[in-house]
Amino acid sequence: MALLNWKNDYSVNIREIDEQHKQLINMINELHDAMLAKKGKEALLSVLTKLANYCATHFAVEEKLMSGNGYPEYADHKEVHNKMTAKVKALMADVQAGKTTISIEVMNFLKNWLDKHIMGTDKKYSAFLNSKGVQ
Ligand SMILES: [Fe+2]
Ligand SMILES: [Fe+2]
Repeated sequence: MALLNWKNDYSVNIREIDEQHKQLINMINELHDAMLAKKGKEALLSVLTKLANYCATHFAVEEKLMSGNGYPEYADHKEVHNKMTAKVKALMADVQAGKTTISIEVMNFLKNWLDKHIMGTDKKYSAFLNSKGVQ
């Protein structure tokens, strides 16, 4: 069963971003499935790496849209992205070193972070970017 499901409330009314958020949700579910299937460290790391790489791509797209359109809260939003990137990097290093594994706590952290980030931080730019013609 999926850990996280897309809901219409997640829409930021920008097609490309909504598609990327759907992909992030899919990758979190893929990691959750791999955890439930008790996949080994290398398999989990490979899914986690894919998620981290996609996150980096997604953050860069949002940041370009925000900075390119003069979004006033760009710096704060970028800071939130940077902190999450650092956390995921640390998680990957810990999994690699065998200090931790992908647990339900880790999965809930990822799920809750994405939910909160889309519903709070991302949705804040929606009206502003829409007003600049970004859809
Ligand atoms: Fe986002
Ligand atoms: Fe964001």
